[in-house]
Amino acid sequence: MCGIAGYVGNRNAPEILFDMLKRLEYRGYDSAGIACISDQDVVIFKDRGRVDEIRESAGCERIISDIGIAHTRWATHGEPSECNAHPHSDCTNGFIVVHNGIIENYRDLREGLMERGHRFESETDTEVVPHLIEELYTQSFEVAFREAIKKLRGSFAIAAISIHEPDKILIARKESPLIIGLGDGENFIASDTPAILPNTRRILIMDDFDYGIVTKDRVKIKDIRTGDEIKKKIQTIQWSMEQAERGGYPHFMLKEIFEEPEAVKNATKAIKEIEDIAKKLTGYKRIYFVACGTAYHAGLLGKYLLERFSIPSEAVVASEFRYSTVNTIDSDCAVIAISQSGETADTLASVKEAKNKGAYVLSIVNVVGSTLTRISDDNIYTYSGPEIAVASTKAYLGQLTAITLLGLYLAGESGRIEMDYVNEIIDDINNLPGKIRQILNNEDEIKKLARRLANKNTFFYIGRRLNYPTALEGALKIKEISYVHAEAYPAGELKHGPLALLEDGIPVVAINPNDDLFRKMESNIQEARARKATIIVVGESGDLKTPVIDPLLSPLLYIVPLHLFAYHISVLRGLDPDKPRNLAKSVTVE
Ligand code: M6R
Repeated sequence: MCGIAGYVGNRNAPEILFDMLKRLEYRGYDSAGIACISDQDVVIFKDRGRVDEIRESAGCERIISDIGIAHTRWATHGEPSECNAHPHSDCTNGFIVVHNGIIENYRDLREGLMERGHRFESETDTEVVPHLIEELYTQSFEVAFREAIKKLRGSFAIAAISIHEPDKILIARKESPLIIGLGDGENFIASDTPAILPNTRRILIMDDFDYGIVTKDRVKIKDIRTGDEIKKKIQTIQWSMEQAERGGYPHFMLKEIFEEPEAVKNATKAIKEIEDIAKKLTGYKRIYFVACGTAYHAGLLGKYLLERFSIPSEAVVASEFRYSTVNTIDSDCAVIAISQSGETADTLASVKEAKNKGAYVLSIVNVVGSTLTRISDDNIYTYSGPEIAVASTKAYLGQLTAITLLGLYLAGESGRIEMDYVNEIIDDINNLPGKIRQILNNEDEIKKLARRLANKNTFFYIGRRLNYPTALEGALKIKEISYVHAEAYPAGELKHGPLALLEDGIPVVAINPNDDLFRKMESNIQEARARKATIIVVGESGDLKTPVIDPLLSPLLYIVPLHLFAYHISVLRGLDPDKPRNLAKSVTVE
């Protein structure tokens, strides 16, 4: 949700900043901009549109500068437009700011500033920041910056430059991610690691209430509240450059779907930690899965899996959990937060609330070092590698694998199933990557089906029990990247209302594993067929054919053709599946 970048060094800042923005574009892409200091003056290029378009009109080769900041936007306050695009400046053009997050008290601050004669050019919450710095500046950029930051309420990752001290970038963080990449005679600022990967792997991670002074040779981090210096440990990014590149695929989403076999395999690397944590979980009376979007669907699978083993559990979307379910939480509860990014605002808030109530918090996370990992009691990493496409695919497979292993060990440890059975299923999980590859090899068939249905504007997805989450995830995927109306229902619910919407030719995707509910699903399929719906069955003898699998693992296999199906529908409709409208990869605002 918005990406910010900064560079200070000896190279051409505009070129580097646009490269960094390109790698952050998945965080927001309705407008973008850069600001550099060149010859004691500030140069700003910003506009509505994609990074490449703005880069072309900026003509980087003409700007000589070795320091600058940049931003790619996902609009919160004010429509996508040139004047609302970041960077923003003060009345004198002496202080320039980029920001990710929401400044909740911006109205009051803006009113006060306007009364004192400041002129505003945008509708954004961000613009108050450069004006505050301007007002508080006497002799020190750092002092004015820190005093300005202290006045802000809400969430922010901020970077600022000034013509008064053109050798430094000042940065601050509260509840929005921010890292510093350490180079040799140069330093980088970014919202996320892919932006700095081509330049360095050594990073410092900013925590809440940290602010920093970054020059080309030095980085100093201090506490916003006390001004005291903070010593940080240098961390090394484990991801490779290739992992963050498209690697010959037309879209990141397709590449990431083809990485699903590895995602399953990589998630099993945490098996030892999972086994240990499962033992800990036996001590809790109730288990809650908390997450958003796709990660919530993984949590819902967790709930169904635990219920399958008679272990009480609940799955709640984080935006509801934090304001309602949390009232029922106490120290007898374990909360399992799931997140690819580890930066989703509602998930982080839920975890903080749950911890305040005394709950034990375990997180299942992809991004190592993310905020969620730092506020949880324990973490299970999924090691899925960087996921760049906005639509989550391989990370979901990683989450499902970790949750399935955790559920199995928990059931084993609490004596609900035999350990021999646990080991049998683990063997099946080890064979899963091969089965996923079989589905991926069948891409042409899936594409053919997509061609047949690409012009449909309504889809229904139905499933039962463990595959109800698969139906939800299949529907979410197609709606977010293809802009078709898709609804998912537990198959038994169809006749309680939604059936009224079925008519000739409406596609109904039915997920039907070979289990004890197979016949019941068949009946539901017949009910839809009788209303002349076009039925697409996912299963061993379905239209989207899947290899034979223990039904317990079917959610890990049956989602794969649905990911590919949604991808191809999106492409056939002439859309960019990597950058769906109105969305952003990492939702760092409430
Ligand atoms: O980073 P997270 O896993 O916490 O993100 C949660 C959701 O925002 C995310 O899964 C979203 O629903 C995806 N766009 C779905 O494809």
